[in-house]
Amino acid sequence: MRYVVFGATGQLGSFVIDSLKKEVPAESILALGRNEDALSDLAAKGVTVGKIDYKTPTTVSGVLKAGDRVLLISSSEVGQRFPQHSTVIQAAKDAGVAGIVYTSLTSATTSKSVLASEHKATEELLAEAGIPFTVLRNNWYTENHIQDFQQAVATGAISNNYGSGKIASAPRKDYAEAAAKVLATSDFSGEVFELGGDSAWDYAEFAATVGEVLGKSVDYTEIGDEEQQSLLEGFGLDQGTAGFVTALGTGIREGALDLVTGDLSKILGRATETLKESLQGWA
Ligand SMILES: NC(=O)c1ccc[n+]([C@@H]2O[C@H](COP(=O)([O-])OP(=O)(O)OC[C@H]3O[C@@H](n4cnc5c(N)ncnc54)[C@H](OP(=O)(O)O)[C@@H]3O)[C@@H](O)[C@H]2O)c1
Repeated sequence: MRYVVFGATGQLGSFVIDSLKKEVPAESILALGRNEDALSDLAAKGVTVGKIDYKTPTTVSGVLKAGDRVLLISSSEVGQRFPQHSTVIQAAKDAGVAGIVYTSLTSATTSKSVLASEHKATEELLAEAGIPFTVLRNNWYTENHIQDFQQAVATGAISNNYGSGKIASAPRKDYAEAAAKVLATSDFSGEVFELGGDSAWDYAEFAATVGEVLGKSVDYTEIGDEEQQSLLEGFGLDQGTAGFVTALGTGIREGALDLVTGDLSKILGRATETLKESLQGWA
């Protein structure tokens, strides 16, 4: 039995490999990615590595075998994700893999988040392809907020357009541990898990918790979408990127990430790391 991880060279993927080694023999793991330094680091952990690029489909099609258990960590190239994921799904179908675990996004099929459409399309393609699958819809990584934490350390003030939108975040290592457990044990029956933290927090709570951890007062100010856009452009982001980031915030304000299900802690067999615990780790 082989356990094949696409996206193993990324931040989530590297944690997945560490967790997967606790579930299955290292020799049965094939870790795939593009970055050669990251592949060397993974090889040093005792797993087999392979260089692939979704943009060159032959590098993907040659790598899979019948019976493989495959984890497809969604690609980081927004706008290119669907064709890239399609390449992997087609290769998996051709090879006759045992099943695919795919890391998607919270409420992917109904979400208004600007990130949702490529995840929705990938989930639909997986179902159409007739390959046994399991979907892990990951909520936000707590690490996405490190910059705001650093700003609070420096200035004692944070602002954005998230308003009172709640985020059920968890750190990457929690999602990674769950992905490894599911890859090792799933029966690929088409189950969809909504993974996220055991509780959701908004930015007022974020600021208060940062203040508690730092032992100083931290203010949060909600700003509107136009002000958010101008602020980001003022930091040097081009109009399109600033618009995309602003739209992510609008989605959060409107509840795109507020889903709490307990699925992640059930898979882990323990509570997820809280916001305060993550912040204490960054302090
Ligand atoms: N839930 C969240 O808050 C959140 C936040 C950000 C991203 N995400 C999603 O979760 C995924 C994992 O997160 P992460 O933090 O681990 O991201 P990351 O560190 O950027 O890792 C992305 C992975 O995708 C691989 N990749 C990208 N383009 C590729 C290509 N053309 N061919 C082959 N491999 C390619 C990268 O390979 P190389 O590094 O070897 O090039 C890397 O292994 C992201 O890709 C994104 O879809 C979720």
